[in-house]
Formats: sequence, structure tokens, C-alpha cells
Amino acid sequence: MEEGALLDTATTWVEQARHVAVLTGAGISAESGVPTFREAQTGYWAQFRPEDMATEEGFRAHPRRVWDWYQHRRGLLAASQPNAGHVALAQFQQRHPGRITLITQNVDGLHQRAGSTGVLCLHGDIFADRWLDTPRNCCHIDHAVAGHPPYCDRCGNLLRPGVVWFGEPLPYATLEAAQQAARVCDLMLVVGTAGAVYPAAGLARIARDAGARVVIVNPQPTELDAVAHEALRGTAAQVLPALLSEAH
Ligand code: OAD
Repeated sequence: MEEGALLDTATTWVEQARHVAVLTGAGISAESGVPTFREAQTGYWAQFRPEDMATEEGFRAHPRRVWDWYQHRRGLLAASQPNAGHVALAQFQQRHPGRITLITQNVDGLHQRAGSTGVLCLHGDIFADRWLDTPRNCCHIDHAVAGHPPYCDRCGNLLRPGVVWFGEPLPYATLEAAQQAARVCDLMLVVGTAGAVYPAAGLARIARDAGARVVIVNPQPTELDAVAHEALRGTAAQVLPALLSEAH
């Protein structure tokens, strides 16, 4: 089928769906100027090793290097704006309260800044900090001493970014809610993710096995293409406004 016909079919599925679940990844923020992870050359993992920058062991080995990288990413995000893809999802939710569940692997807060509410953030929030080790009575985030990273001046506990690193469990209630949305939706949109990281990527299979249509929005092939009924090969900022337009 040609692209226009694929879009028409997917648009009909959106119109028919009582409940739409959307799983987003780094690609939805690419057009806001935020680098993705796995793309050749431009992705963060082309420059850094995930085990250095996105594991507890990497942070303990080089806390300054890892902290400074997250500070750099926070600065980049503070200067970025949600794009037409984020906005299309937020506006759809405003027009159809209760009909969409937005699940994201992103830690960038751009969905929320576009106006989406109740976003299920599977991998945490880059703007939140938490203690590396179990906090003691002396550990108060408000009193942490500035540093790279900030620390508790009584016991030396370090602050770390509030994101989920490799080898760490996802927030339990958030994952449960996402899996439930995948089980009950009629349509799942999988937007801007390579589909390489589990359990997030497994949501598409849960939705498909439960009888939902699965549609990918991604300019490139993904590891979830075999799970999907259709793949719309465009960017999030191009495809989502067309797919979720005012017409429905
Ligand atoms: P990846 O970097 O693995 O994949 C990004 C995807 O976005 C690719 O499939 C691109 O083709 C696609 N893409 C690029 N530009 C796009 C655009 N304008 N519109 C739509 N799609 C576009 O990112 P994720 O799949 O999100 O986890 O990665 C999953 C997790 O791995 C991340 O949450 C992060 C990472 O390591 C942790 O750090 C724990």
C-alpha cells in the first residue's frame, strides 16, 4: 500500500478506537532538537557507552562525568520546545478526555510541557534527583551541598538523576498501568522508538496479543515492525498531526 492509503487506514482505526494507547520513545523529541540514543552518528550511544552513562556502576565509578552529562542534557532540554508531534497528542487528549493513555520512555518532560496529563513515564524524570544510597536522617535534598554531583555534607551520600538506568526496575505502578492500557486498548501507536529496550517494547506485543491494532510511526524500520499491522514511515511531527487531526 502507498503511504497515503496507509495513513487513511490508520486514521480510520483512530476514529474507530474507543481507547488508544501510545508508546513514545526518543524519536518523538528528535524534531525538538533532542538527540536519540541508537541512531548511527547522532545518537548518544554512538558517542558514549550506555554502561558508562546509564548504569549505577558507571555512576559510582565516575560520578562527576555522569552527573555533568545529565546536567548537559537538562540544559539542552530547558532550551527545547515540544514539537507538533507532542502537541497533536496533547490536543487529541483534550478533545477526547479518557480516550488515550500516553506511555513514554522519555525522561525529557516534553509531553507534559505540550499539555498532556497523566503521562506514564516508564524511565523516570531527568529533572528529578534522588539519593544514590538509602537516605539517612541527615539526607535532605533541599540541604544537599552543591557539587558534581551534590552530596549530603553529613554522610557523603550523592544525589543522582531520577531516571531508570539499565539493570534497574521500572516504577512498578507505572509499568502495571502501562501494561493494563496495552491490554485494553483497541489501537496502539508506537512512535519514535527503536523497540530495543524491554519491558517497554513488550507493550506492543501485549496490545497485539490482546487484539488491538498496532501502528508504528517511524521514518526507519524498528525491531517491532513484525508486531505491527502497519508502519507509517514519516516523522512524528509530520504524521501525528495528520493522524490525530481535528477531523476526528
Ligand atoms: P532509540 O534512540 O533507540 O530510537 C529512536 C527511534 O526514533 C529510532 O527508531 C529512529 O528511527 C526514530 N526517529 C528518529 N527521528 C524520528 C522522528 N523525527 N520521528 C519519529 N521517529 C524518529 O530511542 P528509544 O527507543 O526511545 O533508556 O530508546 C529506548 C531507551 O533506550 C531510552 O529510554 C533510553 C535508551 O537507552 C534509558 O536510558 C534507560
